[in-house]
Amino acid sequence: MNMDSNTVVLSLLVFLTCAPRCIYSEERHLVKMNLVRNALSLGAYCLDGSLPAYHLDRGFGAGARNWLLQFEGGGWCNDIKSCLDRAQTHRGSTHYMSKVEVFSGILSNNASLNPDFYNWNRVKLRYCDGASFAGDAKFDNGTSLLYFRGQRIWQAIILDLLPKGLGQAKKALLSGCSAGGLATFLHCDNFTNYLPKNASVKCLSDAGFFLDARDIGLNHTMRYFYKDLVALQGVEQNLDKNCTTSNPYPAQCFFPQYALPYIRTPFFILNSAYDVFQFHHALVPPAADPHGHWYHCKLNPAACNAIQIYTLQGFRKYMLETLRFFLNSSRRGGMFINSCFAHCQSELQDTWFAPDSPRVNNKTIAQAVGDWYFGRNISKEIDCAYPCDNTCHNLIG
Ligand SMILES: *[C@@H]1O[C@H](CO)[C@@H](O)[C@H](O)[C@H]1NC(C)=O
Ligand SMILES: *[C@@H]1O[C@H](CO)[C@@H](O)[C@H](O)[C@H]1NC(C)=O
Ligand SMILES: *[C@@H]1O[C@H](CO)[C@@H](O)[C@H](O)[C@H]1NC(C)=O
Ligand SMILES: *[C@@H]1O[C@H](CO)[C@@H](O)[C@H](O)[C@H]1NC(C)=O
Ligand SMILES: *[C@@H]1O[C@H](CO)[C@@H](O)[C@H](O)[C@H]1NC(C)=O
Ligand SMILES: *[C@@H]1O[C@H](CO)[C@@H](O)[C@H](O)[C@H]1NC(C)=O
Ligand SMILES: *[C@@H]1O[C@H](CO)[C@@H](O)[C@H](O)[C@H]1NC(C)=O
Ligand SMILES: *[C@@H]1O[C@H](CO)[C@@H](O)[C@H](O)[C@H]1NC(C)=O
Ligand SMILES: *[C@@H]1O[C@H](CO)[C@@H](O)[C@H](O)[C@H]1NC(C)=O
Repeated sequence: MNMDSNTVVLSLLVFLTCAPRCIYSEERHLVKMNLVRNALSLGAYCLDGSLPAYHLDRGFGAGARNWLLQFEGGGWCNDIKSCLDRAQTHRGSTHYMSKVEVFSGILSNNASLNPDFYNWNRVKLRYCDGASFAGDAKFDNGTSLLYFRGQRIWQAIILDLLPKGLGQAKKALLSGCSAGGLATFLHCDNFTNYLPKNASVKCLSDAGFFLDARDIGLNHTMRYFYKDLVALQGVEQNLDKNCTTSNPYPAQCFFPQYALPYIRTPFFILNSAYDVFQFHHALVPPAADPHGHWYHCKLNPAACNAIQIYTLQGFRKYMLETLRFFLNSSRRGGMFINSCFAHCQSELQDTWFAPDSPRVNNKTIAQAVGDWYFGRNISKEIDCAYPCDNTCHNLIG
């Protein structure tokens, strides 16, 4: 099955979400794609065998020696058929990707739109392996060929960037959204290990806290989805060893909630408690709602009935429970768990930092992340439950 956020329902919601405000994208900063030259010798290929790629916008001034790496997101493929389909799209091949990307939100180079990271070296790592940059396997039955080489792609990009200045970084932040936010959990400590010992290295996951939750039919939809993914793409060998040796089901370490206790690098978790992707694919996957009782509620939270709201509140409660140890731990962690119906809030200018962007305790996401990164203030923000937050962009009516 291909889990991709490009479903009709989700695009509709995103459209509704941004419709009145889409004008923010007026000043578009475009950055060109680079293919990774050393990928061939490392066997680091996209699903279809094409070379992997990233986009680099150089830092300047006081930020010239600081680096922000952002994993692109875009779901996963967990069986041969869905991966073969994916290999013929921009999610599985650099041949089909846009060769320029808009750098906005946390990737923006404009100080008034991205006050803390605008002058850093900013890199977008393109996603073309289908397993959050973590697989290492190959499928070849004579007629069909697929490369599951996410882990090598990650490696190849890092090795390419080290001599370009990453190897002398003073400050670094590894971030990512959705499947890329999950990649941040999986690669955070490995990233730290590549950088100078005296550098300040931290990680940020945006909308990557995918829960091992039951769906409305009490089925472990995500658990089975990831189990197949980990097996197909050879992911288990690349998961955190401390986690896999302590867990009776090592593949479960693909879930951030089980991997997080072992991560040593300071971490920030940005997520909506009603993450739209998890709502639509993990809590209420289409198979669990064959009669479409949730159709209107998925399009507009104001159309949810009392039982549906109760179910959504239960999902939020479970997310907060799994994060309790992190909230309470003395480690230099940060979090921003808001109550907006959203998915990925750091890449869009609208939600990252704008006059009317979402806030918790009157703090924007950009402020909360900056306060945490630079140690200006403790940033552990948890929003009140839906529908109390009137700074969200989802609320229709
Ligand atoms: C930065 O963004 C502000 C606010 O949108 C805009 O007024 C300004 O022109 C931008 N600066 C540059 C250099 O693009
Ligand atoms: C190889 O796998 C593909 C996809 O599963 C299948 O369509 C094809 O028939 C297989 N070829 C052989 C020779 O088994
Ligand atoms: C880390 O140490 C190296 C070598 O001593 C030095 O060149 C570099 O400036 C230091 N970096 C930071 C962030 O202090
Ligand atoms: C990062 O992880 C890869 C794969 O596990 C490993 O081969 C590599 O040595 C690690 N790098 C560092 C610097 O620890
Ligand atoms: C539970 O989920 C799995 C994986 O998606 C699916 O194969 C199975 O049919 C589902 N069972 C029910 C009762 O929905
Ligand atoms: C992980 O395991 C290594 C030894 O294999 C140990 O030194 C380290 O402290 C462990 N880390 C955590 C967070 O448990
Ligand atoms: C956090 O820890 C404090 C003191 O250790 C304890 O009193 C409190 O109940 C804990 N809070 C949660 C949410 O676990
Ligand atoms: C919220 O923050 C803004 C600046 O970001 C400030 O102007 C405003 O007064 C604050 N509102 C409250 C209620 O503190
Ligand atoms: C730190 O955060 C607290 C709580 O959000 C706030 O009251 C305080 O003003 C902040 N301090 C600074 C220096 O921003």
